Amino acid sequence: MSHPQAVRFREQARGCRNLGSRMYDELLRRVADDLDAGGPAVAVLAGHEEDPGPSGLALRLLGSVHRLVLERRAGALAAYYPTVGGSWDLDAAWPVFRGLLAAQPEAVREWLDRPPQTNEVGRATALMTGLLDAGRQRPLPVRLFEIGSSGGLNLLFDRFRYAGPGGSLGPDASPVVLDPAWTGAPPAGVVPQVVERLGSDVMPIDVRSTEGRLALTAYVWPDQVARFERLRGAFALASATPYDVRKEGAGDFVDAMSLRPGTRTVLWHSVMWQYLPREEQERILARLDHLGSTAGDASPLVHLSAEPTRRTPDSPHEFLVCAHHWPGDGERRILGTMAPHGLPVTVER
Ligand SMILES: C[S@@+](CC[C@H](N)C(=O)[O-])C[C@H]1O[C@@H](n2cnc3c(N)ncnc32)[C@H](O)[C@@H]1O
Repeated sequence: MSHPQAVRFREQARGCRNLGSRMYDELLRRVADDLDAGGPAVAVLAGHEEDPGPSGLALRLLGSVHRLVLERRAGALAAYYPTVGGSWDLDAAWPVFRGLLAAQPEAVREWLDRPPQTNEVGRATALMTGLLDAGRQRPLPVRLFEIGSSGGLNLLFDRFRYAGPGGSLGPDASPVVLDPAWTGAPPAGVVPQVVERLGSDVMPIDVRSTEGRLALTAYVWPDQVARFERLRGAFALASATPYDVRKEGAGDFVDAMSLRPGTRTVLWHSVMWQYLPREEQERILARLDHLGSTAGDASPLVHLSAEPTRRTPDSPHEFLVCAHHWPGDGERRILGTMAPHGLPVTVER
């Protein structure tokens, strides 16, 4: 008999394949087969049989196992996880993975109730694109505010290096290298000075703690080593750069924002808008309109976003990088598109 989660695990496998993880594609299809065959995955997922698709049970399971690997609690499985120096080989890894589910079901279940949470450092390229664009209009120091910040790592965007065939930007010695940041040459402009960095999240992650770093790392797909390296580099920068992420809902956070003469105030967010109830979205847009009505050339406001959006009601979802300026013509402008994990951004020139 088919297990109720098997079909969802196969769908998630396709999603992982489309986003470039052969390892999770192959592994999830084996777990789905194991569920259908009444194997050890059934006991591990007991009580979660009816969890809805959007809860991401498959990614919760894989994140929990990856965490055990990172903590060196998964024994021989580490040999197949590239994030700890292993190399993926489905036929060799599967019996070991299955053996872990059978031997340590309670350890795997520890993180099943936890929502997978990531902080994609690659999405800083979208923020940089918007700030270079804003700076070309008038260079000003930036006060950067972010909603749905997670660990707040993209508040450090000016400390990253943006590389590619068409040139590079940012500090040469940065431990975070975004390559290729853009599909073509970097947009013209100068990296702005940042005078304030503040984030908010309903579930902020403290990346200065071992627990916080472990959580963000565990949800990176282990065969995507470049994502893992970017994250590790950003952890190093976070320890050396003051910024804060408040535990606060996006609506309350934006309500408290104000403008300051001589600076550009920026509200930025990536891949979080879909989690806000419609009323909170409307409240934020109304608050920005109100704040924007008080903006001037010496105290401008910019709303920058990188979100899965449709250009028109009938067009498909794309990860659009958008900007709305006050003072300005009152229109949201599309600056470009980004890949789901951020790199590269294609600027619409
Ligand atoms: C997919 S993650 C994206 C994190 C980060 N912006 C990035 O691009 O890597 C979405 C984040 O939005 C946060 N979130 C969800 N609802 C929220 C709300 N109402 N207010 C603030 N943050 C929220 C989640 O806790 C999570 O950290």
